This record gives sequence, C-alpha cells and structure tokens, in this order.
Amino acid sequence: MRVLGIETSCDETSAAIVDDQMRILSLVVVSQLREHELYGGVVPEIAARAHLDLIERIVEKAFQDGNCSLQDIDAIAATGGPGLIGGVIVGTMYAKGLALSHSLPYVAVNHLEGHALTARLDPGVEFPYLLLLISGGHCQFLIVEELGLYHKLGATIDDAVGEAFDKTGKLIHLSYPAGPQIEHLAKRGDPLRFTLPRPLWKKPGCDFSFSGLKTAVRQTLQEISEKSDQDIADLCASFQKTVGDILCDRAQNAIEMALEKNPKIKDLVLAGGVAANGSLRLRLETVCQKSGLQLLCPPMSLCTDNAAMIAWVGLERFQRGLFTSLDFAPRPRWPLDEI
Ligand code: KG4
Ligand code: ZN
Repeated sequence: MRVLGIETSCDETSAAIVDDQMRILSLVVVSQLREHELYGGVVPEIAARAHLDLIERIVEKAFQDGNCSLQDIDAIAATGGPGLIGGVIVGTMYAKGLALSHSLPYVAVNHLEGHALTARLDPGVEFPYLLLLISGGHCQFLIVEELGLYHKLGATIDDAVGEAFDKTGKLIHLSYPAGPQIEHLAKRGDPLRFTLPRPLWKKPGCDFSFSGLKTAVRQTLQEISEKSDQDIADLCASFQKTVGDILCDRAQNAIEMALEKNPKIKDLVLAGGVAANGSLRLRLETVCQKSGLQLLCPPMSLCTDNAAMIAWVGLERFQRGLFTSLDFAPRPRWPLDEI
C-alpha cells in the first residue's frame, strides 16, 4: 500500500510517497526561505503563490525519486489545515484534483496530527506516548492515545517557542529562521551572564509563555551600549538556557499529568523544528531519565515540515477506512481535539 502526501501549510512545499512497510520511497521538500527572508518572516500571500508555482514539479519529482507513478498509489493525502489558508487551499485543491481524476481516495490531514504521528513512522513508537510539539507556530504537550485520540495537556498562551527564537534573532539582526544560528552562537557564550525571566516557572500545569522573555531580551540589549560579539553570544546562551529551564519545568509537570491519565505511557516524543536544538534535547533527556521515560525524536528531516508525515497519517487513516469527502473545506484553524 502506497500513499502520496502533500504539505503546503506554511513555507515548505513538499510531496512524499510512503508505504505500509514504513518506508519513505521519496521525500521532496522545497523551502521558500529566500522568498521570505527579506521580510523577516513568512508572508502568506507570497507563500501561496510559491506553492502554486512549485506543486506540480514537486509531485512529479516525488514520483521520479520513488520510481513509481500514480497507478502505484492507493490514496492521496494533503494537509487540510491548520495553516496559512492560501497554501492549504493550493495543496488541498491539487490533491482533490488528482484523487478525482484517478478515482483514488482522498484524506485531508491535520498538520498537527502529522507532527504527532511522525514518530510512528520513524523511529516506530507504539501508542500511547506523550508528545512535545515545539515549532515556529506550535508549542504544546499532547497525549497521543491512538489514531485520532489526542488530549492536549497544555500549550503556549502567547508565542510559540520557535517564534521566541525567531523574534530574539530579529532583535540581534539574525536572518529568519534564527533558531539554528542562536544555537550556534550560544556554543561560545556564557549562559549565566544574563538572568532572564521564566514565565509560569514552578506554576502548576504545563502551559507555556514566552512573550515576557522576548521583551526582557530587548531590554537587556538596550542596556548594553556597545555590543561586542561576545555580548551577543552570551545573550544567545542565556536565552537558550532560559528556554531550556522553561521547557524542563513544564515537561516535569506534563509527565506527571500524563502518567496520571495513562500509566502505560513510556515515551516522550519531541517534534517540530525546535527539536533540532541539541542543547534543549539534552536537557529534556535528563528530565525523562528522572521520570523513567524514554526521550525519542524523529530524524531532523522529519521534525520540520515535510510531506512524509502527511502521507503517513494518510496511510494510517486509509488502513482504517477513514477517508475524507471531496467537499472538505480547508481549515485555517483546526485543533487536534476536533478531528
Ligand atoms: O517545524 P518547523 O520547521 O516549522 C513550523 O514552525 O511549523 O519549525 C521551524 C522553527 C523556527 O522557528 C526555527 O527557528 C526553529 O524551528 N528551529 C530551531 C532550531 N532549528 C529550527 N530553534 C532552536 N534551535 C534550533 N536548532
Ligand atoms: Zn509544522
């Protein structure tokens, strides 16, 4: 069984083919970073046009790389939301067109469900597990009980953690996305030089808040009159350490809450672009060790936005006969508990 997946919800245009042996036969991802760089963030209208421009060639390349054609495909899955609506419409319409013209089943996939289930494709984790989704647009803890059954334990009340990295990066004139550069600069900085706020620190629950942290970074920068490279490195290191403190504090509570709801949980799975951060991973590893959980993370290429995760959800849904009607309307907002 093979499924074609299409992802167009943000600034990556991607197509992939996966099969029921958990193999990724092809995965093509084209990032529109350069189109958006000038503006310091993703411009929805530019993204939608770029998806429209790219989608056909990217799907063709996915077939070429996978050495197969539409005749070998059993279902077509595309991100149906949440995301930037122009892009979601492009992917949805393209997928529906292919499905209709080749009499194939169509599955509208929730982008968050894509991130949530990627670890089942690689490294192949079993239900149930606790998920920490940390990306540019999302920051939440979810219990993944089984396909379609997700409990949100907590989420950010303002910025997502990736957004906090990107906004901090903008303040120190780094290009978008700033996360990887901040991690790099932090390596030669002093994480204890600046004391930054840790919103919701030691409070019950596992919600997050990052907007105060960003404001504090701005104030700290204003206080340094002539900023040296070392000042910037120290600020990056202090910022990253503070984010680590916040994530670990919230993770401790989330693990307790999750185990209370379902004692069968054995793994904490990380997903989303921020999961690429080695320092944050190490810190979360320590929290997991203390609680007897295993920290798992899909390979980096599957942590950031990609169509393999969409194809995989399509496949899991297809195997259970869960298709979507062709009159599905793309959803800019689509919380996981409304699946
Ligand atoms: O999952 P993703 O590719 O896109 C969505 O936001 O859905 O995540 C991108 C985010 C950006 O905010 C980027 O700055 C952040 O992930 N990121 C990182 C690192 N690599 C990417 N943040 C911290 N450290 C990193 N190494
Ligand atoms: Zn994403």
